[in-house]
Amino acid sequence: MSSAPFVRIAELPAHAGQQVVIRGWVTHVRSSGKIAFAVIRDGTGTCQTVFVKTQLPTEVWERFSQLTTETSVAIEGEARAEPRAPGGFEIGVTSLAIIGPSPIDYPIQPKEHGIDFLLDNRHFWLRSPRQRAIAVIRSEIEQAIHDFFYERGFLRVDTPILTAAIGERSGLFATEYFDEGNAYLAQTGQLYGEAAAAAFGKIYTFGPTFRAEKSKTRRHLTEFWMIEPEVAWNDSAANMVLQEDFVAYLVQRVLERRAPELAELERDVTKLQAVKVPFVRLDYAEAVAIVQRKGSATVWGDDLGAEDEALIVADYDRPVFVMNYPKEAKAFYMKENPDDPRTVLCNDCLAPEGYGEIIGGSQREDDYDKLLARITAEGLPLDAYNWYLDLRRYGTFTHAGFGLGLERTVAWICGLQHIREVIAFPRMMHRLRP
Ligand code: 4AD
Ligand code: MG
Repeated sequence: MSSAPFVRIAELPAHAGQQVVIRGWVTHVRSSGKIAFAVIRDGTGTCQTVFVKTQLPTEVWERFSQLTTETSVAIEGEARAEPRAPGGFEIGVTSLAIIGPSPIDYPIQPKEHGIDFLLDNRHFWLRSPRQRAIAVIRSEIEQAIHDFFYERGFLRVDTPILTAAIGERSGLFATEYFDEGNAYLAQTGQLYGEAAAAAFGKIYTFGPTFRAEKSKTRRHLTEFWMIEPEVAWNDSAANMVLQEDFVAYLVQRVLERRAPELAELERDVTKLQAVKVPFVRLDYAEAVAIVQRKGSATVWGDDLGAEDEALIVADYDRPVFVMNYPKEAKAFYMKENPDDPRTVLCNDCLAPEGYGEIIGGSQREDDYDKLLARITAEGLPLDAYNWYLDLRRYGTFTHAGFGLGLERTVAWICGLQHIREVIAFPRMMHRLRP
């Protein structure tokens, strides 16, 4: 290689007509005796490289024949605009160095593979264009989340992963913690978020959460990422306005900035363009009436299952809030509804197209006695919740917040069937490797 500058494929347009070096992996090769092509992928894009036998030293031409799928290479040549090539550029090769050969038994071949095989080879599967598109959209959404809250003056607060037993109802992962007994991997950052809201006003957390749920559905992971804003002085109505602004912002951001990746995934973007505020608002009782009319056996008092959620959203082109569930169906920390004390001031946000719950949110119980009664009634260990009750003892305050599941949101925006593809290395009941 000469002293030509090393350039990422996405930056080639700025180097038209210049001699450059690109580095990457071979996705495929073809040759017709006198002219040969290797398509190179570097994570920022793909680029066709052109080898012309009569214009190359013999050893460079011969080296081409060693290129197999996923061989890593450095290639030097002239960057040329070529409208017919993917990405619009190609390299007229002058030099080729093989960095790392790749045996011909590379596991992922251009044919149909079963999902278990692909997940076993997740470390390679990530190299496919489709997986790259998903990763790019996920990253765009993560950045948009930070931007949304930053623009609105929220403070990001990082809450602990190792906790004493507090959180949601579903299963806990335990690990020994010195002389303190068991520590549990956090199921939510919310309770710490509430303490932070009293200190800082408007906060959000963005962290991994863990649930030892034995669910093998297309929307459950044992490790997933959750974004949990908590806002002092917001009530349940203000909480929903924040949610719809937030979700609409994320969708709009992906539409504006990630059209090529949505196209790679063959996403029907008209479905995303319909996601506008205000979202639909249904009382829990109305939602139950809708699903019953459509044949569901759900009765007042039940939580709504995935099938019920699909029945509800089928009538709408935008997300739906189901509000004010019965107490028994929801967590202890939700505020009793003064208009109907059998229910709590909460909402789930259901994504369109059958994706179901992407957000759970509520106004929090700020009455000390009522909260204590709920904690006791649920048989929760009081000593673990004393500090949480303190927030109601010393300067209690109206507050509300919610948790958005990142993987479910990304799966919906990408239009994927299962959330396992949305995270680089998914953790599920039967999967801990790679
Ligand atoms: O409804 P959840 O359980 O609510 C909470 O954890 C509250 N503490 C949030 C809050 O008010 N701060 O979970 C919130 C969201 C769900 O709507 C869903 O999107 C996602 O987290 N979620 C999961 N995602 C993937 N796999 C799982 N096992 C999930 N469980 C919940
Ligand atoms: Mg929920």
